[in-house]
Amino acid sequence: MLKVTHPQWTTRFAFILAAAGSAVGLGNIWKFPYITGEYGGGAFVLVYLACIALIGVPVMMAEILLGRQGRQSPIRTMRSLAQAQGASSGWQVIGWMGVVAGFLILSFYSVIAGWAFAYIPEALSGNLNGLDKATAGALFGNLTASPWTLLFWHTLFMLLTALVVLRGVQAGLERLVRILMPALVGLLILLVGYAMASGRFLQGLDYLFSVNVQAVFYTCQAGTCTFTAEPLLVALGHAFFTLSLGMGAIMVYGAYMPPQASIASSALLVAAADTVIALLAGMAIFPLVFANDLAPGAGPGLVFVTLPIAFGSMPAGQWFGSLFFILLLIAAWSSAISLVEPAVAWLTERWQWCRIRATLSVTGLVWLLGIGSVLSFNHWSGPEYQWFGKTLFDLKDYLASNILLPLGGLLIALFTAWAAQRRFSEQGLALTRGFALWWWLIRYLAPLGIVLIFLHAIGLV
Ligand code: PFF
Repeated sequence: MLKVTHPQWTTRFAFILAAAGSAVGLGNIWKFPYITGEYGGGAFVLVYLACIALIGVPVMMAEILLGRQGRQSPIRTMRSLAQAQGASSGWQVIGWMGVVAGFLILSFYSVIAGWAFAYIPEALSGNLNGLDKATAGALFGNLTASPWTLLFWHTLFMLLTALVVLRGVQAGLERLVRILMPALVGLLILLVGYAMASGRFLQGLDYLFSVNVQAVFYTCQAGTCTFTAEPLLVALGHAFFTLSLGMGAIMVYGAYMPPQASIASSALLVAAADTVIALLAGMAIFPLVFANDLAPGAGPGLVFVTLPIAFGSMPAGQWFGSLFFILLLIAAWSSAISLVEPAVAWLTERWQWCRIRATLSVTGLVWLLGIGSVLSFNHWSGPEYQWFGKTLFDLKDYLASNILLPLGGLLIALFTAWAAQRRFSEQGLALTRGFALWWWLIRYLAPLGIVLIFLHAIGLV
């Protein structure tokens, strides 16, 4: 029978905080605005929101359910659940893919978190004061051009991550997130207010919310336009990335969830909070992008160039700027912890490694892989170090976010709704209302949606 090998969150609220801490991170504040800008705005946002509601939330419920019923690391959870349901032990591939995705994601995530880290002393020392488009661009350019500086901050961030994972994810995380979330929302609202007062607010809103299918899904050359499915795949991938789905992070947190807590309302709350924070970030950033004549499609540096200009010219911007980058760092930190937890949990269970050895091995390997991401912004940024037109950094993000996470989500949906008995979900979710809807979403719509988007992306439909 399944045995409980891990401690539990004390309350449902603690689980929600931890899951929200995992979900809310660089994905909301750094990645969402920059990919929305790269893929042309409103129509992309609409697909992303549809993916969150129709695929993300049902898959999140399934992932939490599997975690809570298995109560071990994702690899072992999938193996024992498959056994208990009379299905193939091959389902543990979900856990394995998740471990690989976790390594890949953290190995670039940590470098970007390092950027946030590096901006804290810049803001504190007043270096952002009075920045304009050119000087903000130069500040960011100098940071990314220096591999040693990037390596320094990447190393520091990985050390911070290791520190919390070493002590066990429950200790400290709950308290941290409880303060972080309201503070982050408060500061984002303040930034939206600033954008209203001094940015091109309506133009920003229009960019984010008015749906222009032509601009997003068609590339036109010499008068002929062809449909491109890439934005669909990227929006789907980002829905998974931002909710931390498809790789076992939410599953392993679900494994520590108290048995009676409601999975459905927890998932809805986490997804809602995550979405609101991403939209707030977009509403703060795009008006400033247009007011300062920056390009929305500028790429990964978008937020790190735009917001310093705003902090540089607002009253008390030195303090708001410092606080913002500190909060962004903490948000990234609470996400990073969940990226290593599946692998660490497995090493401690399967090989009885002590937590110290498991944590140091996992974070050490991620740190090494991260050197490739560091170099992608300088020595290895040239075409001779690119594959399919992507640097190592882009490639890791693309592979993990757009392929491994949705694939993990697809397998989670298939296991829950096709390989396991319906009774397994009925009992585990214990829903009084809405089970039939969820069942339809997880059994048909979510898997079909993911498969169709995959097929579109490789040009088969
Ligand atoms: N959801 C995090 C963010 O939006 O920043 C990133 C992330 C964390 C992705 C954990 C996947 C994961 F398992």
